[in-house]
Amino acid sequence: MAPTWRLLTSRLPPTHTDGRVIDLPFLKDATGASFLDVRKLYPTTQICTYDPGFNSTASCASAITFIDGDKGRLLYRGYPIEDLAEHGDMADCAHLLIRGVLPTRKQRREFQREVRAHRLVHEHLIRFFHGFNHDAHPMAILVSVVGALSAFYNDDHDYTDPATRDLAGMRCVGKMPTLAAYAYKTAHGQPIVYPRDDLNLAQNLMYMIFALPTRPYDLDPVACRCLEVILMLHADHEQNASTSTVRIAGSSQANPFACIAAGVASLWGPAHGGANEAVLSMLEEIGTVDRIPECVARAKSKTDPFRLMGFGHRVYKQTDPRARLMRNMCHKLLDHLKIEDPLLDLAMELEKVALSDEYFIKRKLYPNVDFYSGICFRALGIPREMFTVIFAVGRSVGWISQWIEMAGENVSRISRPRQMYEGALERPFVPISEREGDDGDEEDPIDSRPDSADDLHHLGRMLSVRIANSHGA
Ligand code: ACO
Repeated sequence: MAPTWRLLTSRLPPTHTDGRVIDLPFLKDATGASFLDVRKLYPTTQICTYDPGFNSTASCASAITFIDGDKGRLLYRGYPIEDLAEHGDMADCAHLLIRGVLPTRKQRREFQREVRAHRLVHEHLIRFFHGFNHDAHPMAILVSVVGALSAFYNDDHDYTDPATRDLAGMRCVGKMPTLAAYAYKTAHGQPIVYPRDDLNLAQNLMYMIFALPTRPYDLDPVACRCLEVILMLHADHEQNASTSTVRIAGSSQANPFACIAAGVASLWGPAHGGANEAVLSMLEEIGTVDRIPECVARAKSKTDPFRLMGFGHRVYKQTDPRARLMRNMCHKLLDHLKIEDPLLDLAMELEKVALSDEYFIKRKLYPNVDFYSGICFRALGIPREMFTVIFAVGRSVGWISQWIEMAGENVSRISRPRQMYEGALERPFVPISEREGDDGDEEDPIDSRPDSADDLHHLGRMLSVRIANSHGA
């Protein structure tokens, strides 16, 4: 008979009483929250916990970011995001997340100098951009070129050395905006623009995206500051999907840039960083205020997979503080640029309707950071397919901070979850002639059937693009 175990804890009632007891300790974090430490559960009992989506599982201990989901609070190393967004800049934020403290003036100067020194990417890496079709999504380009950085920085690096880990951090902060801007230029068929040492991170990103070699480009300080705040708001967010992906990749001691590329891939999905693109598409589809009830009804329907994009969050059961900051900034930016965007009015009305609807109230679904960010990006002139790329630039600071923290822990183990197996149990191999439905025909040595119409269509499209490009289109 399989052994049964009683969970003896200070909170849980015993579930089995046949005498076997496992004492699982409770841990408390810095906020006093309790965690049942199940690390010795499986080795002792061969019983696993089952938690798809990790709703009840802390995957690590971290000192970087804290979210109080019930109160709608977000702290970077203890500092409220509202204060950092109002009084700090990206250099403060990156130094704080990566090195753990708000920098002194001297530390700030040194940090900026180091980041500046890492802004350029190897000229050979620029060749990678030439391989993409003009209609490639910039996130597809970013995943590839960030991963390619590992080919340039993989030479005998000893990441057990804190200085080497910090160097990886400086390279990441320095190069991500450059790669993001080059992804934009590639997708638009424009020449890449090299970074400038006299500009800060946000100014440089703006400059590298929008400047052309043929004409002067004036940076708008309000627009640059807005982009800087957007980057800061996205810089870190506890163990979200992409950060957890970075940590899982890093747990095998993979190259840090390969890990960051894994984070970019995870961020891309519409349930995560891709939501900002999806919010704008949704608002455009709704079009007018009178169509809001129809959209809300669809979001509530159990038979319709549609969700209100930019609403809901795994951790926040209150308005995401970043959404509030983003909404205020959206107003200021539109005023400054003298833009009247009907989508802002539509978004505010949609927020009002959803927040007074029983469905959203009961499930504690509030606007998240993505609800208003798309409207800010639009006002800045950033095209939709670049939204998640900008998010990735901001979040890369958090990814590398979390990677540095993890790589610096000597106790870190490879992340290797268990599964609940639902497939067939062991059975004998079936020879091909005895398999159900076998037609008795021998296989062709080479499959001579034509490619599918879809493949042929894609090949034709690629060829016509190449021909168009070779004629200077
Ligand atoms: N619209 C309608 N219903 C929703 C929404 C939404 N946006 N979000 C959650 N729900 C409902 C679910 O249908 C579910 O209802 P049920 O209890 O009747 O089955 C309930 O609320 C709980 O939803 P879950 O999917 O279990 O919540 P989870 O924590 O797994 O998902 C997520 C969080 C992915 C963010 C979800 O709210 C969502 O899909 N939102 C829209 C996409 C989005 O804005 N993503 C950006 C997230 S923030 C970021 O990554 C920067």
